[in-house]
Formats: sequence, structure tokens, C-alpha cells
Amino acid sequence: MSKKIAIYYGTMTGNAESLAQSTHEKVQAEGWDATLHNLADVKPDDLPKNAANAIFVVSTWGDGEPPADAEDFFAELSAASVNLSNMRHAVFGLGDSNYEQFNAFAKNLDARLSELGSTAVADVAAADVVFEQDYADWEPKVLALLAS
Ligand SMILES: Cc1cc2nc3c(=O)[nH]c(=O)nc-3n(C[C@H](O)[C@H](O)[C@H](O)COP(=O)(O)O)c2cc1C
Repeated sequence: MSKKIAIYYGTMTGNAESLAQSTHEKVQAEGWDATLHNLADVKPDDLPKNAANAIFVVSTWGDGEPPADAEDFFAELSAASVNLSNMRHAVFGLGDSNYEQFNAFAKNLDARLSELGSTAVADVAAADVVFEQDYADWEPKVLALLAS
């Protein structure tokens, strides 16, 4: 049976979406049973149903806030009591170190997923404005951990 993975993104100007899309295409080509989700369309209860393995690619906006499209999702996740103990996840954050709340949403999301029982397979990646190489290094490492 092929390995299942859900790839989630939260974006304002498309950076997180394009990285998530490229990972989705890559894992599909490698034979994973993979789905791609904008967090705007996700409810906390969907997480354990979609797949036990999850990748989140999210940016941070405002003063350490989620991108507007992911605000409802994160508010609901913060209040949710959903059990994520069957899940493993990894979070890649896009941010800008000129902001005091550098990658705060990625860090808060990772912390909340762990609080709800999901296992982080890697520390949160907190990428700065030049993120392409960081992502290229992070992606195969995390996919290997999730595949094992
Ligand atoms: C108005 C504005 C506010 C931002 N606030 C933060 C912030 O609080 N923390 C952070 O790490 N990055 C912040 N950023 C940087 C974005 O997260 C970064 O540009 C990211 O690559 C955007 O990715 P996206 O296109 O997926 O939304 C901000 C950028 C803008 C333009």
C-alpha cells in the first residue's frame, strides 16, 4: 500500500503555496498517496482523517499572526480537543528575521499540533526571506523521516 501524506499550506502571497505544491508533485511522482490542502479549507477534525503523515508549510504575517486564510483554522485548532496521537508532522516556516515575531505562526502551529498529540519528526524550520535552499535541504530529510 502506498504511503499516505497530507501537505498543508498557509500563505498570503503564494510562497508557501508554491513550495507545498512542488512537494505534492514530487511525492506523487514517488508513489505516495498525497493530498494538498489550503488551510483555509481545513478543519481540525480533518487532520487525523486526511493522513497520519503531515507536512505544513506556513508563513507568518502581521505581528506573528497566521496568514489571513489560516486564521480561522488556527483559532479552531487552538480551541479544539481533537486527538492527533496517530499523527506525525513537520512544519516549515516562512518568515523575515526583520520582524520581532520571527516565524511565530510556524512555531505556534508546531507547538499546538504537539499539544494535541501529534509527533514532530523534526524541529520547526524557521526560514528567512531567502528560503529556497533551506527548503531544498529540509524537504528530503523530512520525507525520509516520514517514510520510515
Ligand atoms: C506586512 C508583513 C508582515 C509580516 N510579518 C511577519 C512576522 O511577523 N514574522 C515573520 O517571521 N515574517 C513576517 N513577514 C514575512 C513573510 O512571512 C514572508 O515574506 C513570507 O515569505 C511570505 O510567505 P507567503 O507568500 O507564503 O505568505 C511579514 C511580511 C509582510 C509583508
